[in-house]
Amino acid sequence: ANGGTTLTGAVDPLRELGELCRAEDVWLHVDGAYGLPAAATEAGAPLFDGLELADSLTLDAHKWMGIQKGCSVVLVGRAGSLESSFGHEESYIRREEVPNAVERTLEYSRPFRSLKPWLAFRVHGAAALRRWIEHTIALAHELARRVDTAPDFELLCEPTLSTVCVRHVATGAADLDSHNLDLAAAVQEDGRVYLAPALVDGQACLRLCFVNFRTRFEDLDLVLSTLRELAAR
Ligand SMILES: Cc1ncc(COP(=O)(O)O)c(C=O)c1O
Repeated sequence: ANGGTTLTGAVDPLRELGELCRAEDVWLHVDGAYGLPAAATEAGAPLFDGLELADSLTLDAHKWMGIQKGCSVVLVGRAGSLESSFGHEESYIRREEVPNAVERTLEYSRPFRSLKPWLAFRVHGAAALRRWIEHTIALAHELARRVDTAPDFELLCEPTLSTVCVRHVATGAADLDSHNLDLAAAVQEDGRVYLAPALVDGQACLRLCFVNFRTRFEDLDLVLSTLRELAAR
């Protein structure tokens, strides 16, 4: 199930899917690589209702939690699930009272990735991380509101999390798809703002995803003025 799609941040109805999977004895995995941190916030929690029914979750702490790449996290609901998939016998691997980490993944030699989120929680605390994530959700909703009331922009869908898909509606542009793809390339070349081109329901658009807590509300003015300036060239 989707716990925040890359394109729009959409979250599947997790309770409904969870109940179905339990009834049918199907493993439910929720891909929360981008969106899962929102489950811990007041604004995002209702979208993740039923999350506890998932058998496993993924989360990329290097996306919305601001941890350095790469720091992907897998959480499983039942202790021992990973060992029953990845566990194996090698006579040279020590098995003592502490389980050996090689029983849980495909990797043998690996970096100490979990140190990074552990330090972030110790240094900043969970409340600060939640506040930062809520701030970026608020930025996305504010940008969507501004876009929705601007005559030269079109909002392709209401933001669910912190992703906003918009089109610049140029007067006189014969082909809005190529206009927006060209504009996305110009924004990347320009470098003041970063966004990506995307397709929503077959329509080319500009995809803005707020994951940096340092982005400020006043930066939204820069986003729209930069887009207008580059579109006019
Ligand atoms: C929802 C979602 N799932 C999975 C991925 C891929 O994650 P990874 O780069 O850790 O393989 C991404 C983006 O990169 C994503 O947004």
